[in-house]
Amino acid sequence: MRTIAFINQKGGTGKSTLSACLAVAAKDAGERVFLIDMDPQKSLTKWGHRREEKDLPVETVSPGKLPSVLAALARGPVTLVIIDTPATDTPAAEAAMAGADLCVIPARPTIFDIWSSESTRGKLKTLGKDYAFVLTQCSAMPESARVRDGAAALEAMGGLLQPFICSRVDYQEAAREGMGVTEIEPYGKAADEIRQLWTSVKRRLSRLKHVEKSKKAA
Ligand SMILES: Nc1ncnc2c1ncn2[C@@H]1O[C@H](COP(=O)(O)OP(=O)(O)O)[C@@H](O)[C@H]1O
Ligand SMILES: [Mg+2]
Repeated sequence: MRTIAFINQKGGTGKSTLSACLAVAAKDAGERVFLIDMDPQKSLTKWGHRREEKDLPVETVSPGKLPSVLAALARGPVTLVIIDTPATDTPAAEAAMAGADLCVIPARPTIFDIWSSESTRGKLKTLGKDYAFVLTQCSAMPESARVRDGAAALEAMGGLLQPFICSRVDYQEAAREGMGVTEIEPYGKAADEIRQLWTSVKRRLSRLKHVEKSKKAA
C-alpha cells in the first residue's frame, strides 16, 4: 500500500479537486483506493456523498487517529490511500505529511502560491519526506512566461510532476456531480491531464520503492 497526501498551506490551490480526480483515475487504472479527508471543510467527504457509485470510500480521520487508520488499511486490500488536507498549518497537515510516502504540493502559477509552496517544502525537507509539485489552474492558452517561470521555480525546488493542470470547467462540473474528470468527459482534455498525472505519480512512487530496496540492501 502507498499513501500520498495533497499538501499546501495555501487554500484554493486544488488539493481537494486533485484528490478526487486522481482517486478516480487511479481506481480505473486498477488500484484499490481509499480516500482520507482531514480537512474540517470536508469537501472530499461531501464529494463522496454526492457520488452514486460506492466504489471510493471516503473517511474523515483526526490527526491522532491517522497512524492507526493507515496501519489497519495496510493489512487489507487497499493499494493506494489519498489524503486531502486543510490549507493551514495544522496538526492535520502535519500528521498527513508524516504518514504519507509521497506529498504532492499543488500550486497555481502565481508568486503567492510559489512562496507558500516554498514554506510547505521547507517542512517536508525537515521531515525527510519525498515530495513533488504539480502546477495547477494554468491558463489553457499556450504557455505564458508566468507559467514557464512558475514551472522553473517549482522544478528548482525539487521536482515538478507532469503535465501542467489547466483551469477547465470539467474540474468544477465533475466536483459538482461527485465524479472525476475522467468520468464526466472521458475523452476531454482534463481527463487526459489527470490520467497523465496518475502515470507521473505512479512512476514517482515506484522510484521510492527502488530507493527503499537499495537502502535495505545497504
Ligand atoms: N484545474 C482546475 N480548473 C478549474 N477550477 C479548478 C481547478 N482546480 C480547482 N478548481 C476550483 O478552484 C477552487 C479551489 O479548489 P479546491 O480543490 O477546493 O482547492 P483546495 O482544496 O486546495 O482548497 C474550487 O472552486 C475548484 O472547483
Ligand atoms: Mg480542499
